[in-house]
Amino acid sequence: MTDQTSANPKNANALWGGRFEAGPSAIMEEINASIGFDKRLYAQDIQGSKAHCAMLVKQNIIPAEDGEKIIEGLDRILQEIESGHFVFSTALEDIHMNVESRLRDLIGPAAGRLHTGRSRNDQVATDFKLWVRDVALNDLEAGLAGLQEALIGQAEKNIDTVMPGFTHLQAAQPVTFGHHMLAYVEMFGRDRSRVADCKVRMNENPLGSAALAGTPYPIDRHLTSETMGFDRPAANSLDAVSDRDFALEYLNVASITAMHLSRLAEEMVIWCSAQFKFVGMSDKFSTGSSIMPQKRNPDAAELIRSKIGRIVGCYNSLMLSMKGLPLAYSKDMQEDKEPVFFAHDHLGLCVAAMTGMVADMKVFADNMRKAAGAGYITATDLADWLVTELGMPFRDAHHVVGATVKLAETMGCDLDQLPLEELQKIEPKITSAVFDVLTVEASVAARKSFGGTAPERVRESVAAAKERFLK
Ligand code: ARG
Repeated sequence: MTDQTSANPKNANALWGGRFEAGPSAIMEEINASIGFDKRLYAQDIQGSKAHCAMLVKQNIIPAEDGEKIIEGLDRILQEIESGHFVFSTALEDIHMNVESRLRDLIGPAAGRLHTGRSRNDQVATDFKLWVRDVALNDLEAGLAGLQEALIGQAEKNIDTVMPGFTHLQAAQPVTFGHHMLAYVEMFGRDRSRVADCKVRMNENPLGSAALAGTPYPIDRHLTSETMGFDRPAANSLDAVSDRDFALEYLNVASITAMHLSRLAEEMVIWCSAQFKFVGMSDKFSTGSSIMPQKRNPDAAELIRSKIGRIVGCYNSLMLSMKGLPLAYSKDMQEDKEPVFFAHDHLGLCVAAMTGMVADMKVFADNMRKAAGAGYITATDLADWLVTELGMPFRDAHHVVGATVKLAETMGCDLDQLPLEELQKIEPKITSAVFDVLTVEASVAARKSFGGTAPERVRESVAAAKERFLK
């Protein structure tokens, strides 16, 4: 697509320039124009115009032969844009006027009938809604489903892989890596459900609200709603032209998704460090250092971790554009599109990169197992054993375990390596049966509560996740 900036500011705008003596100054043109970015709405603009035109014909508001010419002209414009032959003009401000002006070139005065009973205010609200619904939300939904598939794939391969689970990034209790992967499957599942919720709420048609007050023409907004796949016409014309909640909701969903991605990205950065070595990142998603040959940097993960700032920035940007705007349309609202486009493009890239990283990552189960055994990680299991086997109150058991950990520290060994006599000096009723619960395998296997980390539960959860998310 080419862009032709009008070099001649004396050219009064053909569509609204009737009462202006001279064209806008170059600076005015630059600040006012949105074609540089809203050209991305071309398909939705043409879709909305075709729906509107067909309705105008059906309602006998414009003659059928003009309607035919308009539809043919719009189809031709779509082709011109998609084949790269359309010349966009900054002097024509935005996508709506670029398309309409070209329509006039192609079919003559009949083009002027298309704008009957509508305004750019309801037109842009409609175009943008269609884009958010059919492009942004659909892409996000599809991307997240792919990411969940990769995560479930890793979960399935690592049902029995034991790793340390952390709280405060301190080793807390052993968990299975499959369980850990499925935690993210849940997060991205909620993101997908937010996409679905937001689609339902936004699916009301603004077209036919005209500038702000509706129109005297006998239009049929139910018909255009049906044509464009909206559930119903938006109920209030003032609200319909000035509502950008749908874009904010999308940016909010995008922000929450980016937050989830940043958490997983951070874990990957930690896991692939030389100190952890829990996973190996594939060459496809890491880079070497220019001076330190031993290094392999998880650049993609770091960029994903960082991107949330810019995506939340998009949300803030639109929220602040909308804050305090009186009804109905104000030009501030033209600033709604760039943050949404930015979030969509960058989030899409992050989801795709994360999907590739998860699918390709090598899991070093031995290293995870070794780390899981360190740090007296089965201390809680010892406490639980004292409670269930000796009937000790949990608080007392906690004290016994504290003394046991201290002993292991002095002796420089793990809990399961402590001599029984030493344990009995702390609590005489302890028997050798206690050693059955002190291994990490016993610890994870015992956590069979619903949603727990036991391999037996994780195997069921993998199957359930496939049902819930991949069908
Ligand atoms: N380019 C404008 C936008 O994106 C279209 C609506 C303009 N409406 C108006 N009354 N100037 O918001």
